[in-house]
Amino acid sequence: MRQERTLKMTAPTHTVLEGGGFPVRRPSAMGTLMSPFLLLDEMGPVHWDPGQAIGAPAHPHRGFETVTYMIQGAMQHEDSAGNKGDLNPGDVQWMTAGRGIIHSELPQEEFLKTGGVSHGFQIWVNLPAKDKMMEPRYQDIDSSKIPKVTSEDGKVWANVIAGSTLGVNAVIDTVIPITYIHMKIQKGGVHKQSIESGLNGMVYVFGGTLHLGGKPIHDGQLGLMNDGDEVVLEAIEEDAEFLILAGPELNEPIARYGPFVMNTREEIHQALLDYQNGTLA
Ligand code: FE2
Repeated sequence: MRQERTLKMTAPTHTVLEGGGFPVRRPSAMGTLMSPFLLLDEMGPVHWDPGQAIGAPAHPHRGFETVTYMIQGAMQHEDSAGNKGDLNPGDVQWMTAGRGIIHSELPQEEFLKTGGVSHGFQIWVNLPAKDKMMEPRYQDIDSSKIPKVTSEDGKVWANVIAGSTLGVNAVIDTVIPITYIHMKIQKGGVHKQSIESGLNGMVYVFGGTLHLGGKPIHDGQLGLMNDGDEVVLEAIEEDAEFLILAGPELNEPIARYGPFVMNTREEIHQALLDYQNGTLA
């Protein structure tokens, strides 16, 4: 017997300035309710005039993963492990900071020159204590390699970044089991998504209105699900565009300071020392 997941609560977003000062929409702090996700930032959409686009200059991370997904615009990434890559619309960069990495996330030169619209997501995925100090890992996946699927009736479209939907599996390898799907449902469409019981499941709506188990979630709201093994997602009065996110509850203490997320204050202190001494990355 399948148990349907219902809507537990919705959280609004607020707009903050991140990195060098670009606007992001961020759901209010949900703490462990969002586990294993530490942060969900919708970057833009923002229109930059020529020469105005900004990003995040070199900064460190330790203890978790940063996942960047571009919808519009053009960013470039460079890090202390020698990785370098462009992020164009549809591309995903899954960076496991592990024991430490220093990276920059900046607009591509040509984009900076011409200006344009920048829109995307950055999500932070926590690592279990035993993996926090793992060797850094970098997966740079071109849009053409990320599976896309449309439902038989044509009303549901999905870009499968992690996990699976509509019979299609993602190509990205994650440290813990993560579901990360960009989905659009046309008005009148409905989708049943399996999410293994015990995992924390949520949706972030960034266009239109989505109904989860019959309850509406509006543009700019994060909807957290109750437990179950599948969820009914529906676009009733208008089209809906959203992310589906799911992952395990880590149930470990979180010590967080800026770009470092560890389990204890001592480990944070050590990360700061390592960064100051130049041994973090
Ligand atoms: Fe970063």
